[in-house]
Amino acid sequence: MTTAASHLRLDGLTLVTRRHGRPLTLVDGLGLDLRRGQVTALVGASGSGKSLTCLALQGLTPPGVTQTGGRVTVDGRDTAPAALRGRVTATVMQAPRSAFNPALTMAAHARETLAARGITGAEAERRALAAMAEVGLDDPRRVLRLHPFQMSGGMLQRMMLALALLSEAPFLLADEPTTDLDLVLQAQVLALIEQLVADRGLGVLLVTHDMGVVARLADTVTVLDHGRMVEHGPVAQVFDAPAAAPTRALVAAHLALYPDLAPEDAP
Ligand SMILES: Nc1ncnc2c1ncn2[C@@H]1O[C@H](COP(=O)(O)OP(=O)(O)OP(=O)(O)O)[C@@H](O)[C@H]1O
Ligand SMILES: [Mg+2]
Repeated sequence: MTTAASHLRLDGLTLVTRRHGRPLTLVDGLGLDLRRGQVTALVGASGSGKSLTCLALQGLTPPGVTQTGGRVTVDGRDTAPAALRGRVTATVMQAPRSAFNPALTMAAHARETLAARGITGAEAERRALAAMAEVGLDDPRRVLRLHPFQMSGGMLQRMMLALALLSEAPFLLADEPTTDLDLVLQAQVLALIEQLVADRGLGVLLVTHDMGVVARLADTVTVLDHGRMVEHGPVAQVFDAPAAAPTRALVAAHLALYPDLAPEDAP
């Protein structure tokens, strides 16, 4: 079943752990708004809670971390995060290899994704080949026969996107989808995500360290600092007038790399 969900909302996500015998809050009351056809960037220093947020959004909070608050709604209806996976949300992760079963071929991965939607046989193969072509995998018939160890990181990243398309989930959670890729592949994967947002109206949560990526792809940006949201707004506004110190640091670091983009009145 394909869901027509157009608005995915997270409110008050709170994640805690214990460190040195004391409770420690890792994510503190975070809210996120994801809409079809829009890219929401989630940025913040290493360890600020971005990946935990992506995991919690799918009901995959890791051992050692406890969720003490948080509510997910899809088009205004309360939904259990685990019920989102593969139906409302698909994921692309930083280390694509870990997302695949090493014992299974790409054909088996595609069959599994499609069988969950009741699509089997020749129709399943036709759809798998079409999705793989759409994400730019060359010779998809050959790739279907490969195991994960026979594929490069870039091929696996594309295959993860192809599986996300096959699930027809309206939202994509992309946790640093390009960090492990070389520059050319990074640009290709980002262009692909951009195209899927435009063509299919995918709603994307894009976790990244790279403010250049935010500037290029995102509509809104949420800045996390030690698990707290310190800034949220449209990308242009956040770049023009960053209010919080961590945002100013991220924007300054970006402008140091690309001085041509600095406002005219900058020193
Ligand atoms: N299973 C766990 N048990 C206890 N603490 C954890 C666990 N997983 C992550 N943490 C802690 O939670 C905090 C946030 O981790 P998270 O992986 O979400 O950071 P991140 O923002 O994704 O960082 P990066 O940019 O490096 O990927 C870190 O302090 C981390 O040490
Ligand atoms: Mg992370």
